[in-house]
Amino acid sequence: MSSNIVWHEASITKTERRTQNKHHSFILWFTGLSASGKSSVANAFARTLFERGNQAFVLDGDNVRHGLNNDLGFDEVSRKENIRRIGEVSKLFVESGQIVLTAFISPYRQDRQVVRQLVEEGEFLEVYVKCSVETCEQRDPKGLYKKARNAEIANFTGISAPYEEPEHPEFILDTERYSIEDCVEQLTSFLTDKGYI
Ligand code: ADX
Repeated sequence: MSSNIVWHEASITKTERRTQNKHHSFILWFTGLSASGKSSVANAFARTLFERGNQAFVLDGDNVRHGLNNDLGFDEVSRKENIRRIGEVSKLFVESGQIVLTAFISPYRQDRQVVRQLVEEGEFLEVYVKCSVETCEQRDPKGLYKKARNAEIANFTGISAPYEEPEHPEFILDTERYSIEDCVEQLTSFLTDKGYI
């Protein structure tokens, strides 16, 4: 597939960009059920990072599926491709010296592992946004669980498609117990303690 193309070295290195930004660049990979709070926490935390003067950007499943990935559905193969592309895009963000926060259900362990292996050690932090399917279904902000129950949507994660919980996530956010503000505080402490920010 990749014949007759040659890698071109960048004139500015990742290390130089990190030095200029005065922080590490990495992926904060939020994974969890639909309505678990991935996008809400990612966006709230991105705002906190921005206000600290950090370079941060959110890639969100619903939004990316409006553009780059608007050719993909929700069967297993499409989800794999969705996550593969986001992994590659996230890697570019890491190269550009930014903190990238991704909010995708990313239900398959193997697909998340592929992204972890795409980048260097310490550049991929898996954040499990933990919330029971019962609570997500009660929240149902987009009415999709209702549709899934009525079989108006096929392959709906948690109802008619699987969600494989992370086995060793770097961090767990329990959105059933804690508010978005609490989650942001927990992430800030965790990343500060680890020297990421
Ligand atoms: S992923 O599984 O491929 O990672 P992604 O995060 O991009 O999913 O998109 C999930 C969003 O798409 C959900 O929040 C929901 O709004 C919408 N959606 C539509 N159909 C489905 C479905 N069958 N399963 C899960 N989410 C769906």
